[in-house]
Amino acid sequence: MPIRQLKVSGVRNLQPLDLSLHSGVNFIYGANGSGKTSILEAITLMATGKSFRTSQLKHVLQLEADGIRIEMDVSDETFGDCHLDSLRLKGGDHLLKLNGSVLTSQAEATHWLPVQIIDPTTFKLLSGSPEERRQFIDWGVFHVEQSFMDQWKTFRKQLKQRNAVLKQKEEEWLPVWNKGFIESAQVIDQHRRDYLKRFKPEFERILNELDDSIGVSLAYYPGWDKDSALEEVLQRQKERDMVLGYTQSGPHRAELRIKVDKQPAAEILSRGQQKTVVAALKIAQGAMFQQETQRSTIYLVDDLASELDEKHRFALCKLLEDLKCQVFITSIDKDKLTDIWKPAASKVFHVEQGHVREDNPAQD
Ligand SMILES: Nc1ncnc2c1ncn2[C@@H]1O[C@H](COP(=O)(O)OP(=O)(O)O)[C@@H](O)[C@H]1O
Ligand SMILES: [Mg+2]
Repeated sequence: MPIRQLKVSGVRNLQPLDLSLHSGVNFIYGANGSGKTSILEAITLMATGKSFRTSQLKHVLQLEADGIRIEMDVSDETFGDCHLDSLRLKGGDHLLKLNGSVLTSQAEATHWLPVQIIDPTTFKLLSGSPEERRQFIDWGVFHVEQSFMDQWKTFRKQLKQRNAVLKQKEEEWLPVWNKGFIESAQVIDQHRRDYLKRFKPEFERILNELDDSIGVSLAYYPGWDKDSALEEVLQRQKERDMVLGYTQSGPHRAELRIKVDKQPAAEILSRGQQKTVVAALKIAQGAMFQQETQRSTIYLVDDLASELDEKHRFALCKLLEDLKCQVFITSIDKDKLTDIWKPAASKVFHVEQGHVREDNPAQD
């Protein structure tokens, strides 16, 4: 699923760029603060509608610029070719187009661009809030199950309505709303369960290839006491739900528990080991996505050298190469990248104070 051409303007310190990318590996190197991460940030902005660095897009907008414009030509193994065009104005308006037609939701663009990020903050997938791990599972389900987005929206609606009833203390209406809530909760739960069941062996295989000394187990928690039916739990928690004015249990509270010897992995593993586990989770997800959809993930690996030591870096690069997907890897030092890994097919880009240039383009 490679991005063939990438145009960006108005992002951080980047000068307007127009790059022909490689469908395999794209190395990006340059000094600290030159703009490497900003290139990955622009790709993510198109792929997810968000930045992975900030929750406030105004910080991504270049100082003095009127808006952020990102355009991409994408070739997909299944969907064919497309042109994505996103314009975000300073005032907050966003115009997103697919082949010239305006899109009303980010999800369509996201479907075209299944992106996974491995960067210096990704260890937070283990130590951060349950929401991060819930989103991790849902990335997989969303990209594999076409219907999941609509089902998730239905569930959110049911949850909102139930919460409104709780806030209004309209107890007599609860059984009516419970029914729809439980039905859509079970659909979401089943998707996540099925997904993780298939995901676990893939994760174990990949983690073993990256580092066979780390033993990690994955346990799914649906968002309510697993030994009880959701209906029972809602009944049990009714009084408290009404006091709180929201629903304490349900798929909105689901969690992927990542453990080592029954303890949370984030409490036991070293930072480096945590990074390895997160890399394994993300690569396993891309590998599974590929097996199940015959499409491939785009990997954005930021600051690889600071992420992992040489042995793990090499193992990670090998796994990415085996996936034969499009990869973007940044590093301060060109040699740190190209010395350990010489993929058959790659392009190298150099970033200098916001200017991005391809190294030796004539040789490609
Ligand atoms: N909104 C902005 N407008 C202009 N420049 C910015 C903005 N936000 C950050 N910068 C600058 O852009 C650069 C961002 O670099 P970054 O992509 O993080 O570099 P690298 O990943 O190569 O270290 C930094 O030099 C920073 O000072
Ligand atoms: Mg950076």
